[in-house]
Amino acid sequence: MAGDVDNRVPEDVNKIPARNDLQSPGSGSWIWKAVWTVVVIGAVPLLAFGIKYYQDARLVRRHEESVRVLGTEGLFLFASLDTDHDLYLSPEEFKPIAEKLTGITAPVDLEEEFISDPNGETLTLEATMQPLLLDTMTKSKDGFLGVSHSSLSGLRSWKAPAVSSLPFSASQFRVFLPPKNKVEVGDTWWVIPSELNIFTGYLPNNRYQPPAPKGKEVLIHSLLSMFHPRPFIKSRFAPQGTVACIRASNDYYYDIVFRIHAEFQLNEVPDFPFWFTPGQFTGNIVLSKDASHVRHFHLHVPNDRSLNVDMEWLYGASESSSMEVDIGFLPQLELQSSGPSTPSVIVDEEGNVIDSWDGGSEPIQFIFEDIHWTSEISREEAARRLEVTFYPFKKVSYLPFSEAFERAHSEKKLVHSILLWGALDDQSCSGRTLRETVLESSPVLALLNQSFISSWSLVKELENLKQNSVLSEKARLHLEKYNFPVEMMLALPNGTIVHHINANFFLDQTAMKPEEEGATFSFSAGFEDPSTATYINFLKEGLEKAKEYLAQ
Ligand SMILES: *[C@@H]1O[C@H](CO)[C@@H](O)[C@H](O)[C@H]1NC(C)=O
Ligand SMILES: *[C@@H]1O[C@H](CO)[C@@H](O)[C@H](O)[C@H]1NC(C)=O
Repeated sequence: MAGDVDNRVPEDVNKIPARNDLQSPGSGSWIWKAVWTVVVIGAVPLLAFGIKYYQDARLVRRHEESVRVLGTEGLFLFASLDTDHDLYLSPEEFKPIAEKLTGITAPVDLEEEFISDPNGETLTLEATMQPLLLDTMTKSKDGFLGVSHSSLSGLRSWKAPAVSSLPFSASQFRVFLPPKNKVEVGDTWWVIPSELNIFTGYLPNNRYQPPAPKGKEVLIHSLLSMFHPRPFIKSRFAPQGTVACIRASNDYYYDIVFRIHAEFQLNEVPDFPFWFTPGQFTGNIVLSKDASHVRHFHLHVPNDRSLNVDMEWLYGASESSSMEVDIGFLPQLELQSSGPSTPSVIVDEEGNVIDSWDGGSEPIQFIFEDIHWTSEISREEAARRLEVTFYPFKKVSYLPFSEAFERAHSEKKLVHSILLWGALDDQSCSGRTLRETVLESSPVLALLNQSFISSWSLVKELENLKQNSVLSEKARLHLEKYNFPVEMMLALPNGTIVHHINANFFLDQTAMKPEEEGATFSFSAGFEDPSTATYINFLKEGLEKAKEYLAQ
């Protein structure tokens, strides 16, 4: 989809003579005018069609020629650089190759509007990492049989942060300050807005170098670059972007909690791309309201789930046809401030510099007052708000497996349970399509809220529960009905599954053909959307089957 050339502006449109350059017929006669108008109106689509036809034919010729000259694999690499897909490389597009060959990196345009204050405060961030545990990957079960060595080379060689310690200017962190209309504790906003929605599709897999970051992206890019030199702060798939929430505040300080969906490209030419996508990056920053002082900064990939990284790699020279997917566990990827930000120059009352970091024999001891918040919400509540901003489907709570059954039992409701190979609220592919369509549609949200207790679990988690726990019977009943990659189930509080549907089957049933897309534009509006209607039916059939029990 992303490599599609059809939706681009024809570059040669200016070379076609404009309509008013053509000779105008006798302007005195209204009949002439009317005829001319009809001709012109008729000609516009024809002209557009002509341009497009000419464009397409020319691109096809260029494409054929490129394959002849470079071969498929060569063209693949070429295309990974050719970001505007015109089959020519501009100097900007050639830059990554130039940098690789010369070893000279052009200076990054350090934040357009950011002017570093030499007298401002600085802080140091330290990166720590424990590499991905290869034996948590599904493919390790067969000894990575059939996975070419070069596919995993970027992953295997990434054992430590790219930069373990780096100074930052405190004022750079003002990108985390809330916009003017967000001042209350609990308010959330997009630091880096998502550019993806169901109609824009996904960003291409065939890329090695991240695009140059702009504005607020620059700091996030610098932070993630401490882990690996090729962070893509806009992930290919939704969710994408960075969201922040005011967790606490007082007259001088904010505690801002944030969540980032970004990924890394681990491979380099000539290997095919390997995408490393942590479930999320999250953390918090305590900073003064004018961003002159950063008290504390922390960013990490949560490791409280058994699997927390999605990996996708290409093993052929094509955009989508040959893609491998796996998930694994990354024990640690973390950035932490070594201490509060401090002035680099200290001036006494008369304006004399009394000490500075370089040259001072004894470092000055700074004493920081304790921060007392006048208003705050819990960390969990802030995390929930970030989550709902990323995922509207979370307006309905998804409880852990055991809690869901307890609640369903006391409220006499059905459990709406989603069992997946990868995590639903992480970036893994299996839950992606589901989440982006039905689970966010308002009629489904309303019905789930009213008549069900919702939950989702990983196959791996239920396999563990099955071994030895009071929930083993419920876990067993779930796994019995599970089919790869995602199974939606409706269960009685005692664990009996009354109804279930596989996500692939469901998506096939409701798949929209591309030519129908325009017709059903109002995706979230409700019942015109076949997938919403089908899911509502599924839920209602479950309620019907459980009627006896629920009536008791
Ligand atoms: C769920 O139901 C409660 C009360 O029954 C209501 O307050 C809430 O707004 C509903 N949420 C959604 C997402 O429909
Ligand atoms: C759960 O309850 C239903 C209805 O009461 C019953 O038919 C079913 O056998 C029960 N299942 C289990 C696993 O106990």
